[in-house]
Amino acid sequence: MRLLQLALIVALASGFAAIFIYITGVSNLYDSYRLSDEEFGALQALQSSFQKCVSANGLGLQAVASKDYCQVTMQFPPDTIPKWSDPKTGELEGLSYDVNLCEAVATWEQVRNSTTILTKEFIDALPRGWEDYAWKRINKGIQLNHCENKTLCMEKLSLVLPETPPYVPKQFGKCAVIGNSGDLLKTKFGKEIDTYDVVIRENGAPIENYTEYVGQKSTFRLLNRGSAKALDKVAELYESGKETLIIKTTIHDIMNKMIREAPITNPVYLMLGASFGSSAKGTGLKALEFALSICESVDMYGFTVDPGYKEWTRYFSESRQGHTPLHGRAYYQMMECLGLIKIHSPMRAGPKRVVKWVPSHSLISAARIASEKLLRWLGAGSEEPLASCSIVKKQVKRKYTGISSLGKAALEHQKHVKGTTMYPLERSLGHGQLCLVPAR
Ligand SMILES: *[C@@H]1O[C@H](CO)[C@@H](O)[C@H](O)[C@H]1NC(C)=O
Ligand SMILES: *[C@@H]1O[C@H](CO)[C@@H](O)[C@H](O)[C@H]1NC(C)=O
Ligand SMILES: *[C@@H]1O[C@H](CO)[C@@H](O)[C@H](O)[C@H]1NC(C)=O
Repeated sequence: MRLLQLALIVALASGFAAIFIYITGVSNLYDSYRLSDEEFGALQALQSSFQKCVSANGLGLQAVASKDYCQVTMQFPPDTIPKWSDPKTGELEGLSYDVNLCEAVATWEQVRNSTTILTKEFIDALPRGWEDYAWKRINKGIQLNHCENKTLCMEKLSLVLPETPPYVPKQFGKCAVIGNSGDLLKTKFGKEIDTYDVVIRENGAPIENYTEYVGQKSTFRLLNRGSAKALDKVAELYESGKETLIIKTTIHDIMNKMIREAPITNPVYLMLGASFGSSAKGTGLKALEFALSICESVDMYGFTVDPGYKEWTRYFSESRQGHTPLHGRAYYQMMECLGLIKIHSPMRAGPKRVVKWVPSHSLISAARIASEKLLRWLGAGSEEPLASCSIVKKQVKRKYTGISSLGKAALEHQKHVKGTTMYPLERSLGHGQLCLVPAR
């Protein structure tokens, strides 16, 4: 009898859902996802607020919506002349880019709540962490044969592998990420940049002789493979202090030697990043990812994001072969209009510039929950902070060394997640995180 009732209710409910979909004309793409009216409303409101935001701040960019509540196309004006061509195919960059807002809000929220430094506890807790993962983070890891000799593997990683995360989400307040674009020489942002709590730079970007434009402060430096191989040179770039160096590639024998012998006294870590697919490969985006994982707010300087770029230049050297400036500009504008970052550039130079029409926190949060449901992400819409964990491991009692006075936002976050450390699982974004729960 119970069962029959239930079946009836299910039949009725799906019947109503079908009628509702028919009446409102919602694309039946969604009919099996069972989002509520409010949830559809949130996605719709996000899309329309996002479109207004892009029009108001994008310097000619437009976000064209499709019927699908998640999809928008970032469109440059038809008279835009693309200058960059793919070195492999010779093809010029396109003038329109599709973005999925639902994926973006869900993904970046996960980044904001995760730890992005590779640690020993992560490798230990990851199933087959040493056999399947650790050796891949070592240059010539193939020779290590899946860390058959774990001692040897650990030796190679020891200089860059802290036991536990050195930073927690939202640990820092206002952060600035400084790119290397030649645009930086058009505006004297130096003083403004120095007012941030944390300044994050990239690769071999010099400070000396450019302080008027790029500021003097430096807290972190994110390095790609090329720069990390000259770790000693990089460590000299900031004479008045010690930057923490974050390497986004494998640890190299040469680097190991330099750290031991040079002697480089900077803290050096490897970055453990989420995987975004092809849209997010450059150092610039990785630096934003790192910043978003440790800061309350993130501002961006020195990226090529204004119309009319002539060639890809760096502020400290001749024109270099860069990559996809229009695609980058579209992606950064998307991030700004999702409330993740604020862009500063020669054409948006007022320090008090307000990003108009940014969707409110509550709207983004509602749209994020709807998106997670739509994408069927683990833990979607749950109040339970650990619902998105697909691998949960208890860890021994830990104390955060070096984190003396966490800010209010960081403390609140720690309370929300009950002190759990969340790590992204590469290649399985949305299908859970690795969570280390403190033992009580
Ligand atoms: C593993 O590597 C260590 C450090 O290089 C070495 O001392 C040890 O002999 C190796 N063990 C085996 C079984 O090869
Ligand atoms: C700064 O300028 C001086 C004088 O031109 C030069 O010797 C020095 O190498 C420059 N420093 C950097 C980091 O470019
Ligand atoms: C991320 O953390 C914040 C607290 O800092 C919390 O309100 C939010 O629900 C978390 N999001 C997810 C997807 O766990």
